[in-house]
Amino acid sequence: MTLTLRQPSMLAVMSIPPTTNQVQGPAIHVRGLEKSYKELRVLRGVDFEVARGSIFALLGSNGAGKTTAVKILSTLLKADAGTARVNGFDVATQAADVRESISLTGQFAAVDEILSGRENLVLIARLRHLKAPGAIADDLLRRFSLTDAGTRRVATYSGGMRRRLDIAMSLIGNPPVIFLDEPTAGLDPEARIEVWQAVKELAEGGTTALLTTQYLDEAEQLADRIAILHQGRIIVNGTLAELKQLLPPAKVEYVEKQPSLEDVFFAVVGDADKGSQDRTTRSNKK
Ligand SMILES: Nc1ncnc2c1ncn2[C@@H]1O[C@H](COP(=O)(O)OP(=O)(O)OP(=O)(O)O)[C@@H](O)[C@H]1O
Ligand SMILES: [Mg+2]
Repeated sequence: MTLTLRQPSMLAVMSIPPTTNQVQGPAIHVRGLEKSYKELRVLRGVDFEVARGSIFALLGSNGAGKTTAVKILSTLLKADAGTARVNGFDVATQAADVRESISLTGQFAAVDEILSGRENLVLIARLRHLKAPGAIADDLLRRFSLTDAGTRRVATYSGGMRRRLDIAMSLIGNPPVIFLDEPTAGLDPEARIEVWQAVKELAEGGTTALLTTQYLDEAEQLADRIAILHQGRIIVNGTLAELKQLLPPAKVEYVEKQPSLEDVFFAVVGDADKGSQDRTTRSNKK
């Protein structure tokens, strides 16, 4: 689904730069969150916290309520019960402050196809009334390895490039908290790794990221903490190491190691991409 918080009409209302920085406590604090759509009880008492500067992955199968939770945290939807604070602000009573503290990137890139990547970035920077929109755009193009493609129309971009541009656009104004709803849905393995790298760099820079995903490997690669949303509640919440301890100790078995599909993919595609200016390196692959 597309979440349109960053579309210009809403931006005009919600964006007062720069971000309000409320520094105490966790970046996100959720207690007893409940939400039903008529008879359908989607969230039945969700609790979690996200530390500042960390990446938190909310995992869950289709319909688990991930997008619903993100919508509540980003003030697009009201909870039936419970409390949620983002950047120290209550989503119900301080919605405007929450909106100034966040950005939201939905599953489908919300970029303008007719404009170039650079023009998209400049447009958002202007809408946010920031000084030197051109310099902001150039800096983001560089950070997301889009400098060479910056003047090309977005219609010519690959899915991974669009996604990176989408995330770059959401960073204009330096929101301390970003929500990424299925940031790599529909992307090929290489483009996913590019997006992962971009998200990791953000967290290294102090941004807090909450991402939803159905891909276990995505959570494994990216997240400092992983929570699983199931039947309306968080049933597991911990680091990857903690989650792995929930399983019985590994048995030592001698098996011939088969390459994964990903290994095959990169071996075959591998060198073909070398020298391409549209792609970042895959050096981040674990
Ligand atoms: N506006 C709505 N009206 C009625 N039901 C809804 C509405 N939005 C979501 N739902 C239902 O609530 C449940 C949770 O939806 P949600 O989109 O939050 O799940 P999700 O975990 O994001 O799923 P996905 O992985 O498919 O994106 C689903 O059963 C969905 O059909
Ligand atoms: Mg969803």
